[in-house]
Amino acid sequence: MKSLDELAKIRKEAKNKIDIRDSKGKVRIVVGMATCGISAGARPVLLTLINEVNKRGLKDVVVSQTGCIGVCRLEPIVEVYKSGENKVTYVEMTPEKAKKIILEHIVNGNVIDEYTIGAVQ
Ligand code: FES
Repeated sequence: MKSLDELAKIRKEAKNKIDIRDSKGKVRIVVGMATCGISAGARPVLLTLINEVNKRGLKDVVVSQTGCIGVCRLEPIVEVYKSGENKVTYVEMTPEKAKKIILEHIVNGNVIDEYTIGAVQ
């Protein structure tokens, strides 16, 4: 029988391992799906991202949606979070651009500068 202290220690160690595993190499792709995003075409962008991730079997990539990102006129907007790197915000997205982002940024590690918010503002 283990003491409560021992159990707490085991639990903490297990949690640390999970945290390390979770944050290492994980990529999160977030699509703005507020009304303006949807009317600008965010839905096919989201579907393309999901399809590309599945097609390529990218295990550590999560595609999710959020509400308002705050820049209606640049919708559809996609944010990419890679652990240890700055967030990259892609704007005026299309399904074709979404495919390129999966290949260039997510798979090959090259940010596509011309699609980023910094390039269009
Ligand atoms: S309502 Fe358009 S970005 Fe928030």
